[in-house]
Amino acid sequence: MSEKSHKPRTAIAIMAAGKGTRLKSKHPKVLHEVGGKPLLAHVIASARKVAAAEDIYAIIGHEADLVQRTVGDTGIRFVRQEPQRGTGHALMCAAKALANYETVIVLSGDAPLISSATIQKLCDFHERNRAAMTLLSAHLENPTGYGRVLRSGSKSNDVKAIVEEKSCTPAQRKIREINSGFYAFSVQALFAHIEELKTDNPHGEYYLTDMAAVLRRAKKRVLAVQTENPSEILGSNTRAELVELDQKMRMEKCRELMADGVTIFNPASCVIDSEVEIGADTTIEPFVQLLGKTRIGSDCRIRSYSVVQNSQIADSVMIRPGCVLDGARVETGAVLGPYSHLRPGSEIGEGAHVGNFVETKKVKLGKKSKANHLTYLGDAEIGEGVNIGAGTITCNYDGVHKHTTVIEDGVFVGSDSTLVAPVKLGKGSYVGAASCSRL
Ligand code: UD1
Ligand code: CA
Repeated sequence: MSEKSHKPRTAIAIMAAGKGTRLKSKHPKVLHEVGGKPLLAHVIASARKVAAAEDIYAIIGHEADLVQRTVGDTGIRFVRQEPQRGTGHALMCAAKALANYETVIVLSGDAPLISSATIQKLCDFHERNRAAMTLLSAHLENPTGYGRVLRSGSKSNDVKAIVEEKSCTPAQRKIREINSGFYAFSVQALFAHIEELKTDNPHGEYYLTDMAAVLRRAKKRVLAVQTENPSEILGSNTRAELVELDQKMRMEKCRELMADGVTIFNPASCVIDSEVEIGADTTIEPFVQLLGKTRIGSDCRIRSYSVVQNSQIADSVMIRPGCVLDGARVETGAVLGPYSHLRPGSEIGEGAHVGNFVETKKVKLGKKSKANHLTYLGDAEIGEGVNIGAGTITCNYDGVHKHTTVIEDGVFVGSDSTLVAPVKLGKGSYVGAASCSRL
């Protein structure tokens, strides 16, 4: 590639410093979750898929350390905005970091549905038209709360100004073309004029939206490109909006899963996080929650009121009603529940059964072994073909330390047995009902 055709250097800056006053929360707005992930994590994920963007910056301020810690593993860079004096001020604080780029795409950290394709289109449009500022606009049936776009003429892409809801005249309030809060700027034009922003508005803040009028006054080109998917730009300023976005995202996730062969009865009652994977021919009954990095194979059935988090479930597994799994691994053909509680480190073998009111923690339960009723199994290695009778307890804790119980293949443990760890039951041994086994 010759020097002349070298592509402009493009950065993405995500505004994420705001407090989120309207959420009435002590936690930073961009860490509030939808679809099981912080708002900001969704925006970062889309930004990272934009081929044109060389570097991604998040502008952080309110609870900055916490925000940085939460999304730090994405490898993006951070700029601090202290104190937070508006979206225009956020970009002022990023001036030094962005100085060497030609184009900056500005995203809002509280609008998580934005897709990489839409960001890319905004960027392409901006560069093709050599604009100083291009804003992504949308046509909304209900524009309440958003900034309105004032065009220079009905046919042109040129923008005169953006007017915030609070400053709108009654006539302007009727405009349905709104500012999405996503922009592309020529870095040179933005920072040559950003100091012209004023704080003469109801919030006393520097509005980035005022750059439209500022750049127009400087005879620069300000354009708007309308998105084809208005739902992508929805922001989340209030709890009600957060919940709306969450539902949209989860319904979309259910649609994707169903398209891939998963049956989900009553999807509106289910809570399925964005990173969950499920194989074809698996059935999810109403009121099921599948959270975090959970993976479920094919031909499984997850019955109502089960909550499965960060767990790996193989094929043909039956999870009966009311089970709670966290950090568990369940092999092919196993049957759980009703009302089993599998805590972290539970490994349930092929064809094994874990029944009612059985709690497991850090346990390996071998192939075809059974613990069907009223049992606690913690810190235990249990072989294949073992029968654990009703009411069996591994006493793994002596008040100071945890100890291991080893139960070898083919052992029969009678009902109401107490196994005081450390203890080992050799292959094929038989423990009578109501006994206490110890070293
Ligand atoms: C903004 C736009 C509005 C647009 C809407 C789209 C302004 C003045 N208005 O309004 O025209 O229709 O988005 O959703 O920009 N932030 C900072 N530092 C600050 C203030 C905010 O980083 O000092 C961040 C926030 O964390 C948030 C984003 O900027 O992620 C947008 O700020 P917010 O206060 O939500 O703006 P809106 O009122 O929604
Ligand atoms: Ca917002």
